Amino acid sequence: MQARIVLLPGDGVGPEVVAAAAAVLERTGAQFQHRFTLEPHDIGGAALRRNLPPLPDETLQACETADAVLLGAVGDPAFDDRPPGQRPESALLQMRRHLKLFANLRPARVWRGLDGAGPLKPEVLSGTDMLVVRELTGGLYYGEPRGIEADGSAAWNTMRYSRMEIERIARVAFDAARTRRRRVTSVDKANVLETSRLWRQVVAGVAREYPDVALDHMYVDSCAMKIALAPAAFDVILTENLFGDILSDEAGAVVGSLGLLPSASVGEGPGLFEPVHGSAPDIAGRNIANPIGAVLSAAMLLRHALKLDDEAAAIEAAVAAALDAGHRTADIAAGRSAIGTREMASAIADAVVTGAVRR
Ligand code: IPM
Ligand code: MN
Repeated sequence: MQARIVLLPGDGVGPEVVAAAAAVLERTGAQFQHRFTLEPHDIGGAALRRNLPPLPDETLQACETADAVLLGAVGDPAFDDRPPGQRPESALLQMRRHLKLFANLRPARVWRGLDGAGPLKPEVLSGTDMLVVRELTGGLYYGEPRGIEADGSAAWNTMRYSRMEIERIARVAFDAARTRRRRVTSVDKANVLETSRLWRQVVAGVAREYPDVALDHMYVDSCAMKIALAPAAFDVILTENLFGDILSDEAGAVVGSLGLLPSASVGEGPGLFEPVHGSAPDIAGRNIANPIGAVLSAAMLLRHALKLDDEAAAIEAAVAAALDAGHRTADIAAGRSAIGTREMASAIADAVVTGAVRR
């Protein structure tokens, strides 16, 4: 197969982890005889530094016509004082809206050998394998009216959801549950918010189309607690935009490191694939970031955007093999010696090749 993949390295550790994921993609492509054209473009603070807007037109056009997009991270403290539309983050928000990427899939599982890497006891973590399905183009992130008084005396945002927005994300969650353990936990704040009451009602309606999938509802505060106390209890977590942002970081922490988490943002156009961890400016440029979240995002890209299931599985197996061989970046080292971003990427790429030869 031939595929055109746009790379958006962006800010902070973004360029390092995208280079790592690109190396794994290239080796996987060669191994399975595909032609992946990897095409880098500017985004976020990296674009601002070149006096371009955070999401240059040329970048957006390249993404619109690509088969898939792999992004590193956006976010740069140098631009913290700017108004919302001129910050690096606005590039991502515009892109999600423009490409109609309403569904964000964030799987979080405990990898073999990493059950002692995080804050939880191994016996609590054992069996953890959840998928956060986060609504990505609605809610407080986009609701109007929004603003801040010129004198700084008050500010406001709007939480808004339409029935249609809830229905379509609910279907994504129930469809995903059918490929997993057939359980959906819908997370809301229906004891306080009208949007949540509509959410609950619409999700319950969609659930009737999926009699083979079990549904329960949970308040977001209680869900946050249960992720910390009993993460293995969850299969698919279905939730709105801001709740999903928060709960997915928590899920990353409990499985050992946010650096392990990949994501897929899908909708009508080409999908956008990115690690959940963000730009992490404090560790940028030092070859110490964990590339696994980005590498697993590349695997999700192959599976979801290019329908290359075997190739995606080969990358996931290679991550497991690299971890089995004892390779650790600093965030998951838990006292062992750590290797760098590039070294971890080569260990994974090598394992793709040896794994494929063995098969
Ligand atoms: C994420 C990030 C983004 C979000 C930021 C960078 C806009 O935290 O993808 O989780 O809040 O959605
Ligand atoms: Mn986030």
